[in-house]
Amino acid sequence: MNEIIFLDETSSTNDWLRERCETLSDKTCVTAERQTSGRGRRGHSWETSEGMLAMSILFKDPPDVPTLTARIGLSVCDAVAELYPALSQTGIKWPNDVIVGNHKVCGILCESFGIGDCVNVICGIGLNVSQSEEYFKKVGLPNAGSLKMLSGIELPKKLLCEKIRERAIIRAGELFCGCYEEYRARVLNIGKEVRILRGNDERRARAVDVAENGCLICEDEGGRFEVNSGEVSIRASEGYI
Ligand code: BTN
Repeated sequence: MNEIIFLDETSSTNDWLRERCETLSDKTCVTAERQTSGRGRRGHSWETSEGMLAMSILFKDPPDVPTLTARIGLSVCDAVAELYPALSQTGIKWPNDVIVGNHKVCGILCESFGIGDCVNVICGIGLNVSQSEEYFKKVGLPNAGSLKMLSGIELPKKLLCEKIRERAIIRAGELFCGCYEEYRARVLNIGKEVRILRGNDERRARAVDVAENGCLICEDEGGRFEVNSGEVSIRASEGYI
């Protein structure tokens, strides 16, 4: 049975699913009011404040795993557009940060692991629902924004969780080729100068497109090359995106 589990506190909702995945059914979703060891991409810690929705969904052996992270980003865009009509113009900072008006409203951490011949994926979503501008300044996140701050509307986290889960299940069952043009149209980095961070290495290039496999196509004096989302973080050369 597919379900949503509501917790007051856990270390990380991704870890909670991982520890129990063998007994949980496909598409189980968990959300927590507080995470004591929330994680972001590339090993960063992720603070879970009161106004943030922290949720994770377990996908057992989903199709097209390498592009799942991009499709989960689209599912958050779908949910935001449906619940906040004024915020329908969401963008994506490749591979899957959801951006509204130059502010990051959502970060996504997809972690995959093999069991036998299957690859399972846990998709963790951290959505800024109702924090204030002052809060983000105070915690040193000037580029972050919440849906309430950007729309003036505060919706319950439960409603957002249910809508994102509904959209994520649909998107996870689709192939990337079915949403490639839609995804590409949302990617804000295209045409921008970027810094590609891999471990301690940094390479500067221009992002020129998204490939049909979900990679970011970049170009520098050596020519064009593809960047895989699993390995890197993309920063703007100037500004935030
Ligand atoms: C990022 O932008 O770096 C990704 C952040 C992902 C945070 C979410 S919150 C729910 C889930 N549990 C975690 O520990 N991380 C993800």
